Amino acid sequence: MGVFDMTAFALEHGDCIDGMSRLPEASVDLIVTSPPYNLGISYSQYCDRAARGSYLDWSEKWAVEARRILGSEGSLFLNIGSAPSNPLLPHEMIMRLRSLFVLQNTIHWIKAISLEEEDGTALSRGHFKPINSRRFLNDCHEYIFHLTPEGTTPLDRLALGVPYQDKSNIARWSHTGGSDLRCRGNTWFVPYKTIKSRDKQRPHPATFPIELAENCIKLHGIERVEIMLDPFLGIGNSAVAAQQCGVPKFIGFEIDETYFTEAKRRLA
Ligand SMILES: C[S@@+](CC[C@H](N)C(=O)[O-])C[C@H]1O[C@@H](n2cnc3c(N)ncnc32)[C@H](O)[C@@H]1O
Repeated sequence: MGVFDMTAFALEHGDCIDGMSRLPEASVDLIVTSPPYNLGISYSQYCDRAARGSYLDWSEKWAVEARRILGSEGSLFLNIGSAPSNPLLPHEMIMRLRSLFVLQNTIHWIKAISLEEEDGTALSRGHFKPINSRRFLNDCHEYIFHLTPEGTTPLDRLALGVPYQDKSNIARWSHTGGSDLRCRGNTWFVPYKTIKSRDKQRPHPATFPIELAENCIKLHGIERVEIMLDPFLGIGNSAVAAQQCGVPKFIGFEIDETYFTEAKRRLA
């Protein structure tokens, strides 16, 4: 195959390492992606049970291509989860990639949370898969590693800003500039939408919500994204997020034809 055709929303069925190799150096502003985690997830085609070493070798290969095509002030938001039986996997991945990228921020994607109000009322929000165990806790979060070429990529922190709880801080801290908006921080509560039919509404075993990808786009700065990429497109949630944020160009690769077809359908 020749040089990549950079039309507006270019989704391609195929291997992402091959696909990225056809993109020019420093041609992408933003990568938002979630690779297979090697946790034995039952994808329709891809086998998610490689030996640990070869999985990390392969991760390094796709990351080399991602680094090559990412601009010097670009961002790679890498979503990765773990399992109680495999708690170190996200950290091993980051240790592997640290010769290529700087870990600029670590974000916790909170899928479910329980809080106690001051009056003692218990509040629970979000969804999680319960774990029946005497040793392990229910797993209610995943990581979003914000990897950048130099560790100096500017962010639009207030694009995800939240109002101050204590309004007296607006006047007390000069950096607020009088505005009632502060940086949200690195814990993002993004629940999965409640669905009636998994097969019809979420026909993929390991997706992230559209809103999660939207957060990444907004944090990087929508106006600084001309070209966005997701090498592991799945059913296209990052592409839908790009479309909803008005990103002009998007490239996505997916090796599994069933998921690829669904991604194209959702984007249309
Ligand atoms: C964790 S899922 C991504 C899900 C996606 N974020 C979504 O919300 O739909 C990882 C995807 O990578 C795909 N995949 C695995 N190896 C690939 C490769 N070499 N090139 C492109 N896609 C690949 C799998 O088929 C799977 O759909």
